Amino acid sequence: MLLGGNLPGLMRPLLRVVDLIRKKRDGGELTREEIAFLVEGAARGTVPDYQLAAWLMAVVCRGMTRAETASLTEAMLHSGDVMDFSALPAAKVDKHSTGGVGDKTSLVVAPIVAAAGLYVPMISGRGLGHTGGTLDKLESIPGFRVNLSLKEFREALIACRCALGGQTPEIAPADKKLYALRDVTGTIESPTLICASIMSKKLAEGIDALVLDVKTGDGAFMKKEQDAIALAELLADTGKQMGKRVVALITDMDQPLGKTIGNALEVQECLEVMNGDGPEDLRELCLELSAWMLFLGKRVRDVAAGRKLAQEMVASGQARDTFRRVVQQQGGDERVVDDPSRLPRARRMETVRSKQNGFVARIACERVGVASLILGGGREKQDDVIDPAVGIVLEKKVGDAVKSGDSLCTVHYNAGARLQEAMAMLEGSFVIRVEPPPPRTPLIRKIVGA
Ligand code: URA
Repeated sequence: MLLGGNLPGLMRPLLRVVDLIRKKRDGGELTREEIAFLVEGAARGTVPDYQLAAWLMAVVCRGMTRAETASLTEAMLHSGDVMDFSALPAAKVDKHSTGGVGDKTSLVVAPIVAAAGLYVPMISGRGLGHTGGTLDKLESIPGFRVNLSLKEFREALIACRCALGGQTPEIAPADKKLYALRDVTGTIESPTLICASIMSKKLAEGIDALVLDVKTGDGAFMKKEQDAIALAELLADTGKQMGKRVVALITDMDQPLGKTIGNALEVQECLEVMNGDGPEDLRELCLELSAWMLFLGKRVRDVAAGRKLAQEMVASGQARDTFRRVVQQQGGDERVVDDPSRLPRARRMETVRSKQNGFVARIACERVGVASLILGGGREKQDDVIDPAVGIVLEKKVGDAVKSGDSLCTVHYNAGARLQEAMAMLEGSFVIRVEPPPPRTPLIRKIVGA
């Protein structure tokens, strides 16, 4: 296949896709022009899927240099529209999480930071595997629309200083194409491909700064801390090469964040945090992420001042008021903000109880995520329909003392078909020991790129 390309600033000789597959297969370094050529071909549909898939596999096996990763990110970013919010009178900042169980901070940090005066154009994703997705959580609010056009996204951002939407066809179309291929060709697990996929979408938001929450532990995609750190360094470095202020927090995902897993249950917990309440780990992470966003967005002089300002936004009710405005702007029932009983509720509940005295030594985090998924809280197949009401509420977390018969967690469900499977999975997820476990590693394990 012979193609020219038109990424700005590139004069390109005619290239052959098969030569580029061979070059990467043999461990060669692709040039910016060669990468742009492949990515344009993916976005326009001029390179066939079998050649793209072969090239993706070569990338997974051989890896890419930092320069190649930056070129790939740049080409994927420019495969579609890049939003321009430079006329807005304050910095544009966002946060991205690599995904976890009960990981719901976006719904809290976006309104905190917007209430403090910065703009938050946030494009999020749906649940992936055992992890939840911001869009699915938001859609549990009756009427809430995440499928905004670029025009609607802009209007929401101007009206509320915060817009919460999904990837539109105009945003990084090459990522849409390549991600779908990666999903079915065993080529998701590549730091380079993950980095280019995440950063191309985030940079298309027209942001000045980005805070990354890179999860590590049993419930994360990066189970090992050193892998999470390597991904964080790659993400931060790539963002900086594209002229953005980027920092990455490596955070614990060895147990679910907060107490709830499941879409409407998680929205309710976020509202608790916006009311100055809620579980300590969730509150802590929301404040820290907000503080870094406020600092990178130059709203405050240091992270400590960012934290103080974030606390003020919660204590004064301004974060909650901003969230209410966003819900209203995006077509949702804003009454849920003051009356969470309007959120979808499961009809039935079942309790998982401890069979012994002792202390919770471990919660198998990924299994808890899978248990919520099989109750209907996530998707096993792409076209599965989510039940927003179902999920799990943890009554005990790691380190807590338990007595035989105590409730470990409550299962909220509607259809009973897979209840027993989920219950068995949850029973096996809690490891109870006689001795208290050693002190936990901190929630925020490391900061990369500060
Ligand atoms: N999230 C993305 O958007 N892309 C990836 O490749 C992995 C996670």
